[in-house]
Amino acid sequence: MSGISERVYPKEMDANGVGNIQGVMYKVFTTRYKVAMDWLRHYFHGRELRVVDIACGSGYGTEILSELGEVVGVDLDPEVVHYARKNYKNERTSFMVGNADDFEFLESLGKFDAVVSLATVEHVADAYTYMSWIHSALKPGGASVVCFPSVATMDWAMPHHKRDISIRQARRLFRKTGFEVKRDFYQNHKLDIRHLISEVTSYDNEIPVPPLRQWVKYYLIHPHHAILRAYETTIGGGIHFGDQEYLLLPQPVVEPSPVRARLTS
Ligand SMILES: C[S@@+](CC[C@H](N)C(=O)[O-])C[C@H]1O[C@@H](n2cnc3c(N)ncnc32)[C@H](O)[C@@H]1O
Repeated sequence: MSGISERVYPKEMDANGVGNIQGVMYKVFTTRYKVAMDWLRHYFHGRELRVVDIACGSGYGTEILSELGEVVGVDLDPEVVHYARKNYKNERTSFMVGNADDFEFLESLGKFDAVVSLATVEHVADAYTYMSWIHSALKPGGASVVCFPSVATMDWAMPHHKRDISIRQARRLFRKTGFEVKRDFYQNHKLDIRHLISEVTSYDNEIPVPPLRQWVKYYLIHPHHAILRAYETTIGGGIHFGDQEYLLLPQPVVEPSPVRARLTS
């Protein structure tokens, strides 16, 4: 598999390796889809739903969500969509190639009871535009589940990640795009630096490792991040790897009054 490789391929992974990086990633990634599924099943009282899973990666999560109803998995990478079709196609899942930065494409998908988009907001060009699309894609009474890292990632994840989002910034993003947070869930792990080095130096490493000059440039601009990493890799006991996940309910969009609309036009 080429391309962005911070995805997981559960069928290919050693899920039981206690303390190893693959084991932690497997746990974090599959847990966030199970949490999304449980939240949505509970929120919609088990009724059949139409769901879209944007940035579905290898498709294992789309399969988990298919317990809720019909799920369309969408990803930018044709190779991973091919993998998803081959491994996770069932009578309730379908997969398509699509770009979450392409507003026309997103609009063409139609409306959904639930939009699930896990580990996507850090990848898109404009987080506000993307969250606003999610708002507009929900049927009345719909809900969304999103998640993204809760820790700093920009030293190793550039250029795949466009931003880090703190918990406070996430709340502001949701408020500004018309969402109320109904539920939240946080996962936090510490990755042992020895395990991390052994994973990234293994012959079948899938974790992207940026060139040294990128790290140096990044740390010169963000020295506090270099201090954080120095702490984590020495007395801190490991690199933080964490997720923030939210069940979001759209708030009614307040239409501007005709007078206000005229004044602002
Ligand atoms: C970290 S993976 C997350 C996959 C899956 N949602 C999960 O949580 O396991 C990020 C995925 O986003 C996809 N992606 C990145 N930018 C995208 C975009 N603009 N439109 C659609 N998918 C995108 C990548 O191809 C990758 O599969």
